[in-house]
Amino acid sequence: MNYKFSPKFLWGAATASYQIEGAWNEDDKGESIWDRFSHTHGKIEDGLTGDIACDHYHCYPEDIVLMRQLGLKAYRFSVSWPRVIPLGRGRINPKGLGFYDRLVDALLAANIEPFLTLYHWDLPQALQDAGGWETRDISYTFADYSALMVKHLGDRVKHWTTFNEPSVVAFDGNLSGAHAPGNKDPKIAYQVAHHLLLAHGLAVKAIRAVEPQIEVGIVLNLWGADPASESPEDIAAANTAWERSETLFLDPIFRGHYPVSAYELVGVNMPKVNDGDMALIAQKLDFVGINFYSRNLVTADGNVDPVPGSKYTEMGWEVCAPALRSILVKINNNYCLPPIYITENGSAFKDEVSADGKIHDPRRLDYLKNHFIQTRLAMQDGVDVRGYFVWSLLDNFEWGHGYTKRFGIIRVDYETQKRTIKDSGEWYTEVIRTNQIRD
Ligand code: FCB
Repeated sequence: MNYKFSPKFLWGAATASYQIEGAWNEDDKGESIWDRFSHTHGKIEDGLTGDIACDHYHCYPEDIVLMRQLGLKAYRFSVSWPRVIPLGRGRINPKGLGFYDRLVDALLAANIEPFLTLYHWDLPQALQDAGGWETRDISYTFADYSALMVKHLGDRVKHWTTFNEPSVVAFDGNLSGAHAPGNKDPKIAYQVAHHLLLAHGLAVKAIRAVEPQIEVGIVLNLWGADPASESPEDIAAANTAWERSETLFLDPIFRGHYPVSAYELVGVNMPKVNDGDMALIAQKLDFVGINFYSRNLVTADGNVDPVPGSKYTEMGWEVCAPALRSILVKINNNYCLPPIYITENGSAFKDEVSADGKIHDPRRLDYLKNHFIQTRLAMQDGVDVRGYFVWSLLDNFEWGHGYTKRFGIIRVDYETQKRTIKDSGEWYTEVIRTNQIRD
């Protein structure tokens, strides 16, 4: 079979500031909550930090050469808030802004469309010390930071994302405590979720007030929840799983209210919502980004894990490409959505460098191929998908897992910072060149 994409389809790759930049305290950058968290003993699986990471802060010109070599049409990256405003509010750091200036200019010179994310988790530590996302006023501070960035880069960057995966910020950061800042309190987690949504709405307004014509969206992570059987109990359990996590963000943004089920599921931990908040949150968006990795197979008695016959990635996530198609169709049917970009999709596998110096990663290649195909099929079902960002351009610091998980289509040797395009990357180049997938 041949799966064809339009020549306008935007093929890209994604990264995030803390995961690749390094230079954690250079050029007057402020401390972030991920600096503090990774410097705290016992928080990161391999005991390592993002202090150097992929040293992208210094190696970005070389990385852009590699992006060109891959043939990327777009690149999704995030701005480190404490790099540009070291304490989160107040003093602006011209050297930090200068870095993003150079990065954006170099991308444009290479004919690569920049997609900028304002928040991919590295909150200035000074704001955390003042209460972080638990406090309402931080939402307004975020809008100020967003306006500053748009004033600075809005003439050149046309696609802006407020948040990456607000649910992970709220729940991994404040309920499980696996992420910075490491809270374990449901009351805080749901209040944080609300303030992130509010900050999103305020930021969209602030961005448009500066540059009305640029495109603004948000990136949500969606994790499939499929019933393990046709039994009403399993179907009900799968619906509850979906509502517990996914609709909590989709509904406020695209319907202007929390899902009715949330009041029952979340109970006393429902956040404090002020009059007018929901209207602010439900700003009309130009696009929505979807990050997809896997699904759960749900029964009334819990998840089927492992799923018999399924393959798993190094993250312990089931490989299930058809779940991407069904999620896309589901949200397309249930909400009135703007155009969609797949803003992250990819897989971690143990890679080995072969004798010829190449990295043969057939499992990553297959993973991508099958997810591209399922996306194409969803488009055939009527879903308006405009582009695709592979996670990730480079092997990088995978949050609480440190450097133990490699997601890149480019290998990074952390000792030498040498980059090598993996087989999956070479295959991707061919997909981009021909706008088609042969299966
Ligand atoms: C997503 C994150 C991204 C990366 C992938 C594997 O949740 O947005 O930074 O860690 O997972």
